[in-house]
Amino acid sequence: MGKDVIVACDFAGAQQTLDFLNRFTARKPFVKIGMELYYAEGPAIVRELKARGHKIFLDLKLHDIPNTVKKAMAVLAGLDVDLVNLHAAGTRDMMTAALEGLSAGRPGGARAKLIAVTQLTSTDQTALERDLLIRQPMDEVVLHYAKTARDAGLDGVVCSPLEAGKVHEVCGAGFLTVTPGVRFADGDKGDQKRVMTPAQAKAAGSDYIVVGRPITAAADCVAAYERCVAEFVD
Ligand code: C5P
Repeated sequence: MGKDVIVACDFAGAQQTLDFLNRFTARKPFVKIGMELYYAEGPAIVRELKARGHKIFLDLKLHDIPNTVKKAMAVLAGLDVDLVNLHAAGTRDMMTAALEGLSAGRPGGARAKLIAVTQLTSTDQTALERDLLIRQPMDEVVLHYAKTARDAGLDGVVCSPLEAGKVHEVCGAGFLTVTPGVRFADGDKGDQKRVMTPAQAKAAGSDYIVVGRPITAAADCVAAYERCVAEFVD
């Protein structure tokens, strides 16, 4: 998998999602299906988008005891998506079990890449200390979780583009960095605080950028997508 732009399809239902994706005639974007859309539509929406030729990042962020995550991953493996994720906070044992489940669910087939959320970008240093009782600085925590994910055999992490370079330095160039928090230089940041443009994310070494509202809320979604691709991939 090379560098690509992943479009976050943060829609409430299938019809809105299909109406949005029907506008893309020249090329099929790599899409992200998150909790909202998956919980509304279930595996049918994954099958539908796969049948339409989209690559899929199923962003369900699993976090439970190892046995439960292993069995859930085996079920998700049957959907044959390209990328799935979990929370690194579930521990190394949970991540190892998740990988076993993913492989067991597709005997003989290529398994989805498995990536870990290190710390959510909505968690700041205050919440880390006050709510999670973690006293180390955020960047140390993120790198420690990334190393644990790598040691468990995972393929990469979800992180801020600001952390992508450091993650590659510590975990290797081949360890994937999938980075949300991307905005155009002349765009609205919305609720994202630490952002980079697609061109800056490319320079920082991100492997995939996840872009939602700068594309989904644009007057011309296709032009906004093509602009991301031009800045990040071409
Ligand atoms: O609209 P926007 O570009 O902010 O969308 C970013 C997408 O990436 C959303 O689907 C959001 O849930 C997801 N995400 C994020 N930060 C993380 C993990 C996922 O913004 N740490």
